[in-house]
Amino acid sequence: MSDNRGVVYIGGGKVEVQDIAYPKMETPNGKPIDHGVILKVVSTNICGSDQHMVRGRTTAPQGMVLGHEITGEVIEKGSDVEFLNIGDIVSVPFNVACGRCRTCKEGHTGLCLHVNDDRAGGAYGYVDMGGWVGGQARYVMVPYADFNLLKFPDRDQAMNQIRDLTMLSDILPTGFHGALKAGVGAGSTVYVAGAGPVGLAAAASARLLGAAVVMIGDFNRDRLEHARKMGFEPIDLNNHDRLGEMIAAVVGEPSVDSAIDAVGFEAVGHSGKEQPAVVLNQMMDITREGGAIGIPGLYVTEDPGAAEKAAQTGSLSLRFGKGWAKGLSFHTGQTPVVQYNRQLMQAILHGRLNIAEIVNAQVISLEDAPQGYEQFDKGVASKFVLDPHGMLGVA
Ligand SMILES: NC(=O)c1ccc[n+]([C@@H]2O[C@H](COP(=O)([O-])OP(=O)(O)OC[C@H]3O[C@@H](n4cnc5c(N)ncnc54)[C@H](O)[C@@H]3O)[C@@H](O)[C@H]2O)c1
Ligand SMILES: [Zn+2]
Ligand SMILES: [Zn+2]
Repeated sequence: MSDNRGVVYIGGGKVEVQDIAYPKMETPNGKPIDHGVILKVVSTNICGSDQHMVRGRTTAPQGMVLGHEITGEVIEKGSDVEFLNIGDIVSVPFNVACGRCRTCKEGHTGLCLHVNDDRAGGAYGYVDMGGWVGGQARYVMVPYADFNLLKFPDRDQAMNQIRDLTMLSDILPTGFHGALKAGVGAGSTVYVAGAGPVGLAAAASARLLGAAVVMIGDFNRDRLEHARKMGFEPIDLNNHDRLGEMIAAVVGEPSVDSAIDAVGFEAVGHSGKEQPAVVLNQMMDITREGGAIGIPGLYVTEDPGAAEKAAQTGSLSLRFGKGWAKGLSFHTGQTPVVQYNRQLMQAILHGRLNIAEIVNAQVISLEDAPQGYEQFDKGVASKFVLDPHGMLGVA
């Protein structure tokens, strides 16, 4: 079988859908494995994390097949796969994890020590994450399948709610992790920076965790308007740069219990110029003494496109003393998806979390991926879901 096609980064801010090899049961180094499965990709989403690479803001090589947000149907399995069967519909955590190393055993699957020769942590179709082939494609291979995959209980039920369930591979657990690590609980006041899909998923998660009020800040007015329609308090950062004042206008004081950074290193300041530390500094200002900041937004070690020299190697101008003086907690890193995806699946299946509506999921064909990337890069208020086999009804 060789009818595989995938979204390939071709440099210069562009992606192209190309013929690619059918997946093999082997590691990126060519070592044969028995613990993998091959999936027919049911749905696969475009992510803000992909945009960092496509915009040339990482050292991602041209020719890389992208895609780390994957839901699929098992069509082949290795001899060492015990708990999955052909025909199962599964959600793929974006982390590639072995389940056997120290950090995996501790539940830190975003930091697996065994799937990336260069550093801790693996992912599909992502720079510096071990070279695993991406899943914005018709077929993809998933290693350590028993450990990594979440099987949906019923195929028909899963296909009926696939637009929601497709968010379990990354953004929903990521938003939830951000909210949980920011200490959100019953009655919390919450500020989320960034009204992209991750920010909206964090806001939805904060609501699920019982937050009293969830504010979302951005400059993008279409996204803010969408956030407002979904029941969140929009904070229009175009107005001025005194975030505390805008927060006080909603909650009566210039601080919140919990803050979540869903922006990352490409953060823009009020001047309209990039200021990679602006969100982190603002959060230290507005988070109450003893509060916590969840930082799902991505920060990198190499940013060849950064304006400031120090930022090119990930050094930021942080007013860390402020955070220290307030005794704030910070939580960073890749989300360990397996810690959350099962509970969030149940929340979706039992009608507690209309995440597709909240992130405004738009389903397009695999062949239309380049247009999806372009639109998403312009900041449309949508999360693009690719439908490689027409299983979601898009040809
Ligand atoms: N930790 C993880 O495991 C993980 C997983 C998924 C995504 N991410 C990261 O989460 C971040 C968000 O992802 P996304 O898909 O929503 O991206 P996105 O690019 O669609 O959204 C980012 C939003 O931030 C806004 N923004 C820019 N500067 C801002 C500022 N100073 N204050 C408030 N908003 C500002 C932008 O206008 C944009 O709407 C990215 O950095 C992505 O790489 C991390
Ligand atoms: Zn993602
Ligand atoms: Zn591991």
